[in-house]
Amino acid sequence: MHFSTAALPLMGAALAAALPAVTTNSSMPTVRLDYSTIVAAAGNTTAGYVKYQNIRFAAVPTGDLRWAKPSWPPVETEINTGTLAAADVDCASAEDCLYLDVWAPSNITAGSKLPVIVWTYGGGFTGGSKSESTPEGLFDLSTDFIFVAYNYRLGITGLGNGPRYAHQGGATNAALWDVQQAFEWTRKYIGEFGGNAEAITAVGFSAGASQVLFQMTRFAGHAEQLFAQAYVMSPGFVPGAGHHHADQFWLNVSSAVGCVDGKLDCMRAVDFDTLTTATTDTVSKYTYQFQPRVDGDIAADTYEAQFYQGRFNFTGPMVVSHELHEMNGMAYAGVNTTEDVATYLRIFFPSITDDVVEEALALYPGADYTSPGLRFADMKQSFDLTAHNLAATNAMGNNTWNARVDLGAATHGTDQSYIWYSTYTLSTTSTNSTTSNSTMKRQAPVGGATAVDATVAVKMQKYLLSFVLTGNPNTQWPEDKLHWPKYMEGNSTDGTQIIFNTTFSTGADDLANEKSLFWNQVLWY
Ligand SMILES: *[C@@H]1O[C@H](CO)[C@@H](O)[C@H](O)[C@H]1NC(C)=O
Ligand SMILES: *[C@@H]1O[C@H](CO)[C@@H](O)[C@H](O)[C@H]1NC(C)=O
Ligand SMILES: *[C@@H]1O[C@H](CO)[C@@H](O)[C@H](O)[C@H]1NC(C)=O
Ligand SMILES: *[C@@H]1O[C@H](CO)[C@@H](O)[C@H](O)[C@H]1NC(C)=O
Ligand SMILES: *[C@@H]1O[C@H](CO)[C@@H](O)[C@H](O)[C@H]1NC(C)=O
Ligand SMILES: *[C@@H]1O[C@H](CO)[C@@H](O)[C@H](O)[C@H]1NC(C)=O
Ligand SMILES: *[C@@H]1O[C@H](CO)[C@@H](O)[C@H](O)[C@H]1NC(C)=O
Ligand SMILES: *[C@@H]1O[C@H](CO)[C@@H](O)[C@H](O)[C@H]1NC(C)=O
Ligand SMILES: *[C@@H]1O[C@H](CO)[C@@H](O)[C@H](O)[C@H]1NC(C)=O
Ligand SMILES: *[C@@H]1O[C@H](CO)[C@@H](O)[C@H](O)[C@H]1NC(C)=O
Ligand SMILES: *[C@@H]1O[C@H](CO)[C@@H](O)[C@H](O)[C@H]1NC(C)=O
Repeated sequence: MHFSTAALPLMGAALAAALPAVTTNSSMPTVRLDYSTIVAAAGNTTAGYVKYQNIRFAAVPTGDLRWAKPSWPPVETEINTGTLAAADVDCASAEDCLYLDVWAPSNITAGSKLPVIVWTYGGGFTGGSKSESTPEGLFDLSTDFIFVAYNYRLGITGLGNGPRYAHQGGATNAALWDVQQAFEWTRKYIGEFGGNAEAITAVGFSAGASQVLFQMTRFAGHAEQLFAQAYVMSPGFVPGAGHHHADQFWLNVSSAVGCVDGKLDCMRAVDFDTLTTATTDTVSKYTYQFQPRVDGDIAADTYEAQFYQGRFNFTGPMVVSHELHEMNGMAYAGVNTTEDVATYLRIFFPSITDDVVEEALALYPGADYTSPGLRFADMKQSFDLTAHNLAATNAMGNNTWNARVDLGAATHGTDQSYIWYSTYTLSTTSTNSTTSNSTMKRQAPVGGATAVDATVAVKMQKYLLSFVLTGNPNTQWPEDKLHWPKYMEGNSTDGTQIIFNTTFSTGADDLANEKSLFWNQVLWY
């Protein structure tokens, strides 16, 4: 017998015999996993990286697998050239959406063990996709890391909940299970792309940042730590209320699509577009909040509660940031009177009691605001977003780097245009990838920042990449940016944060207050 080790892929060759023999004519690099062979779909030879596109990390979640926990994908006999789905496939518009992309430098060697970014997008648990933000700008600073971006199920397929649903075997919070699956896939396979499974930084924004925090606290902390470090930007999550509300919603959607009593087998047979249309109608009719719900299992409690109780498994360094005016710069639509403020608290938290409404109103006195709409907007900024930062920071023993974004209007997402700033967008239509014919559509950046200050953007990217590469935002490019103190650095009583603006400065944490502490108790649960 004659073996040619040179013909073997980088690693993980043991199971290769189970796969059909494959050859590719592409000059693009190929990675062979135990269930799939993937040819890069695009690359930039100048910058020195390639993109492997639309790798299945879970079985297609349709039919009986709709509302099931994700399972590992079956063996694929066709070579994956990136065209199993549209380049920008997303879970709001396509049910077969559980794909991920891996962006890796071209010069990896068999021994490469590069740090890995696993990116989780935001979009309020109903929107967003792996292709919305891409790492071209980051690769301009360094090609010493791997970038993974994945989709998770959204809306009705990702957040089926409530007793009637769960008692029939529906998987609660499937969207959270998808995230766990994406991290487990990365831990299992990223070595084959030159990455180090022990050097993963979870980077997330908004709902995606909350996904990261849900993973730290999943199963009340009785679960493996999936990533070594976390970079959490504006974690968004509305801890609504429990079983009754979820059940009413499930019944509303099921009756709209003609399924009696919310029967799961009937619901699994409904066409995806019909289902999502009925869902959207029901959401707008009842102002329903599509958010993960406490299920006693993967979401044993709200993550805020679990942080205070020490029920999490995460020991790594963490960065946590928020924006000055996440939501409070504009009156909340529909809230015109003082009565409306209470009405909207009851809409967001259907089980809230009158005394807790009074407590909230007292913490945000009407006299502090020029309109009831601004008053409610400020409350929402706290309960949807910024209160979470304090819970996470304190849970880590304040051993965190905190930031506030004051750039421009500093509304929710303003920072995203900076973090993902790039002078160009990689086209996934590559002349070398003969079968690939997909184009990358990029959505407008969240937050609507019109002009991005490139100098500021590159500095923010350097903090992020320094953290990814070394576990400290200060270590790399120290001459190029202000020293970012840890939360307790330099003041043993008050928290400190960096302030991202046209110039960089440091200041006191504006979130360590009784407002944050109030919301984090989730008294309506
Ligand atoms: C590769 O090229 C050869 C010769 O041109 C052709 O016969 C073969 O079908 C090609 N294989 C693939 C996978 O495209
Ligand atoms: C595409 O193919 C050409 C010729 O084979 C090669 O010189 C070039 O580096 C390839 N480009 C990429 C992005 O791999
Ligand atoms: C490749 O990257 C460089 C920056 O490193 C950029 O200027 C160029 O436009 C990119 N080319 C393509 C085809 O994306
Ligand atoms: C790949 O190239 C980059 C840029 O030249 C360099 O910094 C890096 O060390 C190289 N990595 C390897 C594994 O050779
Ligand atoms: C926490 O994560 C670590 C690292 O993955 C693991 O060894 C440990 O068993 C986990 N703890 C629990 C309680 O599951
Ligand atoms: C729909 O939801 C509303 C309020 O959440 C509830 O009053 C109503 O009974 C529900 N309809 C059905 C058919 O379940
Ligand atoms: C609040 O005011 C807006 C216009 O300013 C109006 O469209 C809306 O109907 C009002 N809402 C209520 C509940 O009165
Ligand atoms: C690529 O896709 C476009 C748009 O879907 C289509 O018009 C074009 O014919 C396709 N090209 C190839 C080579 O398949
Ligand atoms: C941010 O910088 C701008 C321009 O220098 C300045 O006008 C603004 O006051 C700064 N914002 C804060 C909150 O310091
Ligand atoms: C630092 O600590 C002192 C008290 O020790 C306090 O007066 C001061 O305001 C603190 N905060 C900041 C951000 O400097
Ligand atoms: C952590 O910071 C909070 C303020 O956010 C402060 O009250 C607390 O004493 C600090 N705890 C430790 C252990 O430093």
